[in-house]
Amino acid sequence: MSQTVYLNGTFLPLSQATVPVLDRGFIFGDGVYEVIPVYSGQPFRLDEHLQRLQQSLQAVRIQAPLMREQWREVALALIKANAELTDQSLYLHITRGVAPRDQAFPPAGVSPTILAMSLPLETPAQALVDQGVAAISALDIRWDRCHIKAISLLANVLLKQEAVDAGVAETIMFRDGMLTEGTSSNIFAVKNGVLLAPPKDRHMLPGITYDVVLELAASNGIKVEIGPLSEGRVRAADELWMTSSTKEVLAIISLDSQPVGNGRPGPLFAQMYALYQDFKNTVMRQQVPHG
Ligand code: PDD
Repeated sequence: MSQTVYLNGTFLPLSQATVPVLDRGFIFGDGVYEVIPVYSGQPFRLDEHLQRLQQSLQAVRIQAPLMREQWREVALALIKANAELTDQSLYLHITRGVAPRDQAFPPAGVSPTILAMSLPLETPAQALVDQGVAAISALDIRWDRCHIKAISLLANVLLKQEAVDAGVAETIMFRDGMLTEGTSSNIFAVKNGVLLAPPKDRHMLPGITYDVVLELAASNGIKVEIGPLSEGRVRAADELWMTSSTKEVLAIISLDSQPVGNGRPGPLFAQMYALYQDFKNTVMRQQVPHG
């Protein structure tokens, strides 16, 4: 069955969805995006994702092409059109539109290009959850607007490939000796039973999963400290976790070939993973989209 996508106001098969080569997304990577997990047909924290999308659009000065309600309609229609997938990963992508190649913004009247599609949500296999994953570290060579979910991801692509080449799951980045995040995930540490999280600033994407983890920690009596995390503290952590909408929560058991803690997923990870799965099954899957 051909996958249905949304492109500039029209629902059509993926194979027929094309954009002109002068699209500024193609030419300059000039655009922003979102990835929203869908559980049992329910988009999780759609409002929060749409709000982050709005913030990304504003930050790069692209006029919001759709109102919140219109995004919601597109999202729900796509979820329905791809209903054979119970769990989906909804992808929204907006570029500054099609215009002659010139770095300056195009003249007024050039409409943003809007693509939305739904992909299968592939959460980590149980073996990865049970065993944890390895990571390497690297200098964060990205720009200093990493809070914007920009489609220009060349630095992330190169850093992620370093992980793949090293046979590990993620590259953890440090900037000026401080933890920022993974190439497509946020990173948490645990020391002496306290969950440590880097602060939301221009050097990391404010993850929706990051928020969920902090909320679950707060409501379950897990001590949390939010603040800059030095490379030394990360390397001395008892546990490291990575979080994202598609990876959920995963334990990192080695960093640059050195074991994290005792080299196995730790007790706080086990607690958080169970809380997250419980939350997913009792809240995320039941959620009724409003509007
Ligand atoms: N990435 N940091 C970066 C750089 C990311 O790309 C992502 C998500 C996150 C986690 O954000 P959230 O919890 O809202 O998914 C952090 C998505 C999944 C992606 O690009 O595919």
